[in-house]
This record gives sequence, C-alpha cells and structure tokens, in this order.
Amino acid sequence: MHAAAVVALLVLLPPLAAAQDANCAPASCGNLSIMYPFWLRGRQPSYCGYPSFGIDCDTAGSAPLLNDSYLRVLDIHYGNSSLVAFHTNLAADDPTGCGATKFNMSATIALSVLATSRANWELFLCGNCARRPPAEWLPINCTGSSGAPWFVFLSHDEHGGGADQEIAAAGCQYSAVPVLPGSELRAPGDYAGLVRRRFLLEWKVPGDCAACDASGGQCRFDAGENAFRCLCPDGSSQPATCARGEFTDPTIPYEPSISFTGLLDLISVRC
Ligand SMILES: *[C@@H]1O[C@H](CO)[C@@H](O)[C@H](O)[C@H]1NC(C)=O
Ligand SMILES: *[C@@H]1O[C@H](CO)[C@@H](O)[C@H](O)[C@H]1NC(C)=O
Ligand SMILES: *[C@@H]1O[C@H](CO)[C@@H](O)[C@H](O)[C@H]1NC(C)=O
Ligand SMILES: *[C@@H]1O[C@H](CO)[C@@H](O)[C@H](O)[C@H]1NC(C)=O
Ligand SMILES: *[C@@H]1O[C@H](CO)[C@@H](O)[C@H](O)[C@H]1NC(C)=O
Repeated sequence: MHAAAVVALLVLLPPLAAAQDANCAPASCGNLSIMYPFWLRGRQPSYCGYPSFGIDCDTAGSAPLLNDSYLRVLDIHYGNSSLVAFHTNLAADDPTGCGATKFNMSATIALSVLATSRANWELFLCGNCARRPPAEWLPINCTGSSGAPWFVFLSHDEHGGGADQEIAAAGCQYSAVPVLPGSELRAPGDYAGLVRRRFLLEWKVPGDCAACDASGGQCRFDAGENAFRCLCPDGSSQPATCARGEFTDPTIPYEPSISFTGLLDLISVRC
C-alpha cells in the first residue's frame, strides 16, 4: 500500500476501529468465559458485546447476573447461542415454592433478543380451577385466593401440546415455569426444587460473530448505529467479515500473534 494511502486510512478511521486491542479479549467470570455477545460490566467497554448482554460478575460467589436483571447465568453455549440460567425470583428463599404460582415468564423476560428455549420442559401450576382437573395433576399445598388447592404438572413441550387445552378445559388460573429437559416430577414435594432449577434461553443478536472471528476480525457492537461491527487487523471496521487476501498470502492461513482466536485458545487450554 502507498504511504499516502496509509496516512489517509489512519486519519479516516472511526474511533471504534482504534480498539483492535485486548479490551475485548475473552474474560473469565467464575467458571464462565465471557465474550461476544456478552461483555463484563465494569471491566470491559460496552462495545465488546450487545448492550443488554452485560454480565455482572458477582464477587460474593453467586452466579453472574445478566443485564442487572433477574437472571443468573450458569453456563453459556456459544456454539448454539444458548445459555443456562435461573430466575432469582424463583430461587428466592421460598421453601414451599408457592411463589411460583404468581410467576409469569413472559412478563419478566421481554427481550426480543433473548427468549426461553423451546427445548425446555414446562412446569404448570394451576389454581382456582372451575372444574375438576385431570387426575394426573398433583395437588400441592398452595392455596389460591378462594382457598382452593393448586395442582402441578410437567409438560414435555414448551407452550406445548395439550397443556393449554387441559388448563382451559378445567378453567384454571395458572403460571408456567420453564425447566431443563430431563427434570422429573414424581411426588408433589419435587416441584419446589424444580421451580428453582435452571432452564435454557436462546439469544439472537445482529451479526455473525463466528464468521467475523474466522476472518481474523474481532466482534464489536456499535450501540449508536445499533449495528454489529467486525474489527479487522488493518484497523478497519466492517459490517460482517474482514477481507483477508489483502493482508496475507492466501495459501498461508492468517495468524496474528495476538488474535482473538489465539486468546481463545489460551483461555481454553487454561480451563
Ligand atoms: C438492560 O439494563 C439497562 C440498564 O438497567 C436497561 O435500561 C435496559 O432496558 C435493559 N435491557 C433490556 C433489554 O432489558
Ligand atoms: C459453574 O458453576 C456453577 C456453580 O458452582 C454451576 O452451577 C455451573 O454448572 C458451572 N458451569 C459450568 C459451565 O461449569
Ligand atoms: C446447546 O448445546 C449444549 C451443549 O452441547 C446443550 O447442552 C444445549 O441443550 C444446547 N442448547 C439448545 C438450545 O439446544
Ligand atoms: C403473562 O404476562 C404477559 C405479558 O405481561 C401477559 O400477556 C400474559 O397474559 C400473562 N400470562 C399469564 C398466564 O398470566
Ligand atoms: C400438605 O401439608 C400437610 C401438612 O403439613 C402434609 O401432611 C401433606 O403431605 C402436604 N401435602 C402435599 C401434597 O405436599
């Protein structure tokens, strides 16, 4: 490249592009590795991830909190864009688990970019039923407004199958709590433990970070533009991936010494 062209390029670089550095290197929080679309609040700039995906790493030993909300994160599966979390309201000190009868997941997680996974099973808590509920529903010691008993049952499909119809047929008020597939409800006493259990959430944020990463770039989010950016080794900021041919002999894989992937390798070796 011409020297004059290099100078022109440097002058034209947007401020974000100056950040091809270690600011957004994968960070650890307990046993989790935090990287795009997540970012570590207080330790990393917010452009390292999606705005509402800031993770608060709790030094007191509790699982990290997502976006200062009700969700505590236990595991992150970057490969399939899902995470395992539990809801602090459900895990609160409530030995009876009856607080879950007032729980409404759709009211508490209203993020279009994050949704409870359809892979979860669902625990239904039904009360104040107008008609006799199906015999399989287990009675629990939670009383409704009329003193009527509550019943609990586990559905293996989220929003699934016949559950809604059964509840409508019995004319009940209900709440639904997502639980990890494989949960078992054999005795009425099991449900209190179940509502405290973790469940899967899936995220869908703009941009393909894996593709940007594979092209030698680093993933960023420009909140001002509400857009994904791929920050390239030449300092440029691209909408999707970095063009590679310009910097390397195409027969040799491009391997910068302090690349994002390099850091990833280091982290995974250490864990
Ligand atoms: C994330 O937290 C911020 C600050 O509390 C809040 O303004 C924002 O609405 C939250 N984001 C979402 C999508 O819930
Ligand atoms: C991390 O630790 C928490 C609490 O000890 C545990 O529940 C969770 O399963 C762990 N996650 C991973 C990815 O090992
Ligand atoms: C994503 O992959 C992990 C690990 O393989 C798996 O446990 C999890 O259930 C998957 N998530 C979804 C939503 O299927
Ligand atoms: C849960 O909350 C949503 C949104 O506030 C509402 O539309 C829905 O009817 C509620 N569901 C139940 C079962 O109360
Ligand atoms: C409800 O509570 C009573 C008295 O504490 C107990 O004997 C009974 O087993 C409980 N029933 C259920 C379904 O948990």
